[in-house]
Amino acid sequence: MRGDSEDQMGSVRWAFRCGSWTPTRCEWLFAARCIQPEEKERIGQFVFTKDAKSAMAGRLLLRRFVCEKMGLPWSQFTLGRSPRGKPYLAAPLQDDPASLIWSFNLSHQGDYAVLAAEQGKQVGVDIMKTVMPGSSSVPEFFRIMTRQFTPYEWSVIQSAGSEHQQLAAFYRHWALKESFIKAIGTGLGFNLQRVEFHLSPEPPTQALPVRLTTMHLDEEEQGDWVFEECLLDEDHHVAVALGADSLPSPVPLASPCPFTLLSFSELIGPASPLTEEDPTYWESFSTKVDAPQRQRDVL
Ligand SMILES: CC(C)(COP(=O)(O)OP(=O)(O)OC[C@H]1O[C@@H](n2cnc3c(N)ncnc32)[C@H](O)[C@@H]1OP(=O)(O)O)[C@@H](O)C(=O)NCCC(=O)NCCS
Repeated sequence: MRGDSEDQMGSVRWAFRCGSWTPTRCEWLFAARCIQPEEKERIGQFVFTKDAKSAMAGRLLLRRFVCEKMGLPWSQFTLGRSPRGKPYLAAPLQDDPASLIWSFNLSHQGDYAVLAAEQGKQVGVDIMKTVMPGSSSVPEFFRIMTRQFTPYEWSVIQSAGSEHQQLAAFYRHWALKESFIKAIGTGLGFNLQRVEFHLSPEPPTQALPVRLTTMHLDEEEQGDWVFEECLLDEDHHVAVALGADSLPSPVPLASPCPFTLLSFSELIGPASPLTEEDPTYWESFSTKVDAPQRQRDVL
């Protein structure tokens, strides 16, 4: 992962390490002013600090992206959600053809929030941290998850080696499947047995992302979908799904670029407030508890 803020033309990959962010009162209240009121309200309702921080980081990543890459002033656009939850730029409607061709998506899990955006392609991103299952053994956890993967995918997962390696293979597949359903925007309504991933022989690393994994949909290989995989650190798998061209004339895909890790100052740098300061928002945040030790959000 790079530490600078340089992006490849037409491609954005940003990460923020929300797990190690301990917001000060000033940071939290300012961040809350810089997102839409309904999102502030939603984030305020999380029980755990961990979830509130990652959702806040996600909203800031989205606004930073629209502001910096689509050229709209931070406080002068509205993000909406599709009926199934996928974020999009709702207003203003864009006349500039360059801004029409950006597609973007967000994921937050484990210690990071990540944003991927691409010009001219449908984009879905998913990050998964490899964690031991909270309340069951690995075989029992896999049994509960049977329907999420095809027999071929299970054969690959279960022959990956140690239990930790099997879990890493499991989460790698999970991130790939989620990246696809997030690119097409269907969310929970998609039968995951319809897609089957054939992994690249080389596992992803923290160096440059790889694009050798392929996807079969209803048993047919989908040559127009590209899956970019990398590790943010040894436990966090990221998959970016890049779909069919969203433009009449195809745009060549930029070569893969690693995720840029943003600091909080970089994340909030271009921000300007949308609402007034609300001191009770900090009081409510500071009484929340952090997440339980074990990952709760897999099931
Ligand atoms: C919401 C869903 C799209 C992803 O949820 P998730 O993996 O728990 O969460 P992630 O952190 O990766 O992504 C959440 C972000 O995706 C975005 N998102 C929400 N719905 C979306 C959709 N339908 N399509 C694309 N992106 C969506 C949002 O920005 C959301 O963050 P926000 O609410 O803070 O703005 C949904 O697909 C889901 O719950 N899937 C789980 C289904 C499953 O069983 N998967 C097994 C895979 S093997």
